[in-house]
Amino acid sequence: MKGTFTYSNPTRLHFGEEALGKLAGELAGFGPVVMLSYGKASIKKSGLYDRVMEILRAAGKTVVEDPGVMPNPTVEKLREGARLARENKVDLILAVGGGSVCDYAKGVSVAAYCDADPWEKYYVRMEPVDNAIIPVGCVLTMAGTGSEMNGGSVITNHAVKRKIGRVFGDAVFPRFSILDPVLTLTLPRYQMVAGCFDVMSHILEQYLSGTDDNTSDYIAEGLMRSLVHSSRIAAANPQDYEARSNIMWTATWALNTLIAKGKTTDWMVHMMGQSVGAFTDATHGMTLAAVTLPYFRHILPYGLPKFVRYARVVWGIDPAGKSDEEVALAGLEAMKAWMQEIGLVLSLRELGATPDMLDGIAEGTFLLRGGYKPDLTTAKIRLILEACF
Ligand code: NZQ
Ligand code: ZN
Repeated sequence: MKGTFTYSNPTRLHFGEEALGKLAGELAGFGPVVMLSYGKASIKKSGLYDRVMEILRAAGKTVVEDPGVMPNPTVEKLREGARLARENKVDLILAVGGGSVCDYAKGVSVAAYCDADPWEKYYVRMEPVDNAIIPVGCVLTMAGTGSEMNGGSVITNHAVKRKIGRVFGDAVFPRFSILDPVLTLTLPRYQMVAGCFDVMSHILEQYLSGTDDNTSDYIAEGLMRSLVHSSRIAAANPQDYEARSNIMWTATWALNTLIAKGKTTDWMVHMMGQSVGAFTDATHGMTLAAVTLPYFRHILPYGLPKFVRYARVVWGIDPAGKSDEEVALAGLEAMKAWMQEIGLVLSLRELGATPDMLDGIAEGTFLLRGGYKPDLTTAKIRLILEACF
């Protein structure tokens, strides 16, 4: 391992059945005004809304309701939430929902007291945060993004067709997150498997880089093996608590900064997926599933030893009688079979993308340089995207 780094993670997690019982204790650490941010309908349908309101009332909090956070939260909603938080002088933003609600809450936490336009300042220009930050806590209802224990906040601006992820520092990480796998059991199957692929993609985009012998890669392999195992069980029986709890815990560790330590990272699948999202508003994990295999086939010759290791360790490919390239490709075939088995999409067409969007999606794909093929161009991205139809 050759990298040098500092590691800390400020989020306190409460995991397991009935973890919601820890919310009251966490609330005691904050002032009286709580902004309750949530999505469209799921927490009311499941009864979680009533349970959280009861805990807030019992804690004597004044609740500022902030409903309607949409999947792939928009810049308009961010501005509205920032105004609401500022006007009500909220002491804590409590995000109850999936990654979208958590991401949005973090965006609001820095936007509320920002004098400039937060989209331009924090998402386009990526300036450091220099205003007051409202603390965030999460009650997570969907496993996938890792937003419960990271500084990520992805916001979509439909007017300019850009979906941009900002990774904020420690001060913006959730102060606490409640992870009860039971709360994820009401998730529609499509969202559940999309979340599984989001997790896989997070791990792979940190794994497929570098050439040194790195502990982070061994951790990544363990996480991937657990995820493949549990996702198969969950796809066959979504109510399997053990599988769902493993998926939830794996999701957190896939993107809470640990497995990126000492490494460069790739993230081009996310850059393409986010641009697809800006044009289609499709489910995040599915956008990644649609672009992954063509992208991997493109970079495979440049990172062949790692693709061979991935095929052998994660997919159990027997190398006997095969060239390295054959082993690596067999790994991708095994991955494809798993994707089909659990019900992921394999093409952009399935997400409503049309070929006339290709230029725009390619232009909206930010080029990052940490992977095995650091000299990608927008024209190359367009070719890879073409292969995703
Ligand atoms: O709005 P409601 O009614 O709550 O419905 C949601 C939504 O429609 C529903 N849902 C969530 N939990 C449920 C449930 N339905 C029934 N039962 C439950 N328990 O699921 C739908 C999708 O929710 P969403 O929060 O959008 O999904 P996800 O957790 O995948 O979040 C996606 C967002 O996170 C960003 C993505 O780009 C996308 O905008 N990401 C954030 C990252 C980060 N913070 O580090 C990294 C990721 O790569 C990702 O980019
Ligand atoms: Zn993701």
